[in-house]
Amino acid sequence: MPDKQSSKVPVLTSETAVMAVIGDPIRHSKSPLMHNAALAASECDGVYTAFHVLPEQLGEAIAGMRALGIRGMNVTIPHKENVIAHLDQIDNHARMIGAVNTIVNDNGTLIGYNTDGPGYVRSLIEETGIDLEEARVLLIGAGGAARGLAYALLHGGVKQLVIANRTADRAERIVDELHSIGNIEATALIDGIPQVKPDQVDVIINTTSLGMHPNVEEMSVQASYLMPHMIVSDIIYNPLETKLLAAAKAVGARTHSGLGMFVYQGAIAFELWTGKKAPTEVMRDAVLRAMQEVR
Ligand code: ATR
Repeated sequence: MPDKQSSKVPVLTSETAVMAVIGDPIRHSKSPLMHNAALAASECDGVYTAFHVLPEQLGEAIAGMRALGIRGMNVTIPHKENVIAHLDQIDNHARMIGAVNTIVNDNGTLIGYNTDGPGYVRSLIEETGIDLEEARVLLIGAGGAARGLAYALLHGGVKQLVIANRTADRAERIVDELHSIGNIEATALIDGIPQVKPDQVDVIINTTSLGMHPNVEEMSVQASYLMPHMIVSDIIYNPLETKLLAAAKAVGARTHSGLGMFVYQGAIAFELWTGKKAPTEVMRDAVLRAMQEVR
């Protein structure tokens, strides 16, 4: 008689779609948990794992993906840029950003996508209900994450985008690249004060690492700049409530945490691999539960 335990063992066959995340380091990735919960909830014949791939092994890892017929991969630090050289096609968004976080193996053709920016925008819209076409957005930071978000926000039809960065030149460079897509300008961030009037800002998005564990006491924007009419968003999700978000709550502003970006970048990848709508609530719960267990 089969016992309860053995009836829970998933049946994996040569038909099972295999997905994985590759990165270095990779041990703490929440992607396997999130995606396996989504695959189970959607009754997909699929499994998602994680591989620790060193930079010098990236080419071999992608060759392995081809040889084994692995259906999909997520790509994380430090491989997002270097993986491009090993793929067959790059979608326009990922090409523009110069970074891939999702690979789809379409019958042997490896296609690279970037779901980070679109995932962030979908999360912001679905979780706050804002109308992007009416929103004046202030993006803090001008690194790779800011660039991806700026591109996705402009594509989403944002009314106005201002990029504020400590090194104003870097913000100017993003503006030079993207000004043909929409209404974008650069400004300086001086001692945590963006050089744009706060009453002209509806949404602030922190894309810097200030406030991320273990530097939880840092914030990119001074609390005195925050106003009650604003939505304040942080792409950091560890901790779930950064010091910036706590300060925003304290002045009566609405907040939006980085967990949504993580969930929705995964949701878009899931939809590319499976063709099914991602169960985003199941995914969010799985990540939240895992984060609470760590504490
Ligand atoms: P990523 O690619 O992850 O976005 P990055 O390219 O290293 O990372 O960019 C980090 C961003 O955080 C930059 O905008 C950086 O500002 P500078 O361009 O002036 O360096 C910003 N940043 C990092 N530390 C900061 C600090 N102490 N104060 C203000 N901004 C900071």
